[in-house]
Amino acid sequence: MSGNQEHQRRALSGMRPTGPLHLGNFHGALVNWVEMQHHYDCFFFIADWHALTTGYEDTGALATHTREVLIDWLAAGLDPAACTMFIQSRVPEHAELHLLLSMITPLGWLERVPTYKDQIEQLKDRDLGTYGFLGYPLLQSADILIYRPDFVPVGEDQVAHVEITREIARRFNSIYGREADFEARCRAAAAALGGEAGAARYAALRRAWTEQGDAAALAEARALVASAAGLSALDRERLLGFLVGGGRAILPEPAVLLTRAPRVPGTDGRKMSKSYGNTIGMREDPASVAKKLRTMQTDPARVRRSDPGEPEKCPVWDLHQLYSDAATQEWVQTGCRSAGIGCLDCKKPLTEAIVRQVEDFRARAREFERDPALLQDIVARGGDKARAAASATMAEVRSAMGLAGP
Ligand code: TRP
Ligand code: SF4
Repeated sequence: MSGNQEHQRRALSGMRPTGPLHLGNFHGALVNWVEMQHHYDCFFFIADWHALTTGYEDTGALATHTREVLIDWLAAGLDPAACTMFIQSRVPEHAELHLLLSMITPLGWLERVPTYKDQIEQLKDRDLGTYGFLGYPLLQSADILIYRPDFVPVGEDQVAHVEITREIARRFNSIYGREADFEARCRAAAAALGGEAGAARYAALRRAWTEQGDAAALAEARALVASAAGLSALDRERLLGFLVGGGRAILPEPAVLLTRAPRVPGTDGRKMSKSYGNTIGMREDPASVAKKLRTMQTDPARVRRSDPGEPEKCPVWDLHQLYSDAATQEWVQTGCRSAGIGCLDCKKPLTEAIVRQVEDFRARAREFERDPALLQDIVARGGDKARAAASATMAEVRSAMGLAGP
């Protein structure tokens, strides 16, 4: 590990194990994760407890689904040497933090999470009248806060969950980060910000923020604290917390990193999604992939071969944008609008590209499919790393809450 590693910012995200992943999952999340693993200290986990919040009765496939997701991650290019992969239920500290956070979480906050009512509307066949379902955004908050990440890369649909996580962190810090001698400790810590001049600068910036709401001053003060050498982690938390009028930032607020998500249509033209039954699996049999593409929805106005089409109204075109080079895209645009090519012609190079990718995934997955011990080893190591980070946070949380023992 290079010394650089230490200063790398941390990113954390998770995925529910609902079965083998499809091309929508690949382009929507995994492409970003694979890229991020080289730039951040990444923690990625399989949220198996989350799967229980919307389906506690039939858990017969859960273990298989967990394995499938892990294999798909590896097939996509997540590398155990570059990121930490683990399974949520193997890190019981998440449950402890969830319990402790539940004590300070107003019920209304959970009832107001937009996915709460949405899911109850949409998943009418499930029993969502449970305590676990209401509480799952808080479980997600615990998943996140326990690793003190800088970023949480998620799609649009998860932004509200990161928002509530930030509110919970603020509430926690303002309740438990207030030490009796907090201000005195902050003044002492400020002295380490480059002597009297640094301490005075910090005080002036803090005043500019708290009294005039000067956001630039807040940003500068945060940078001053972040860059100060010779400041203990504890004092750093104090100075950051003091800036925003709270206590020590025991659980720092993470930022959302909105992942770039291209439109990935399924075979019926709607967004590719397991619930629509229109998916193409990352490791699906190539013959089946080719067949699905052959019958995939095209521009509905193009009924006969001689009718010109409109690529913008065709889901096949969305896929070309992901898989085809500029020359092929040009060929599609011209050929479609002039009826110079038929839809089967148009789908041919696309099918080749997708089949090539799926074969690639299948090849990379093979060694893991053959060797369950290899998979177990990856999540065991990842779990150890995750637990070390999670226990360090929990030690602080327990002590701040008076739970550190006699
Ligand atoms: N709720 C997320 C989903 O349904 C999965 C998830 C659980 C998660 N815990 C998380 C995502 C923590 C990011 C961070 O997709
Ligand atoms: Fe769609 Fe291609 Fe057919 Fe045009 S030619 S309608 S882009 S499949």
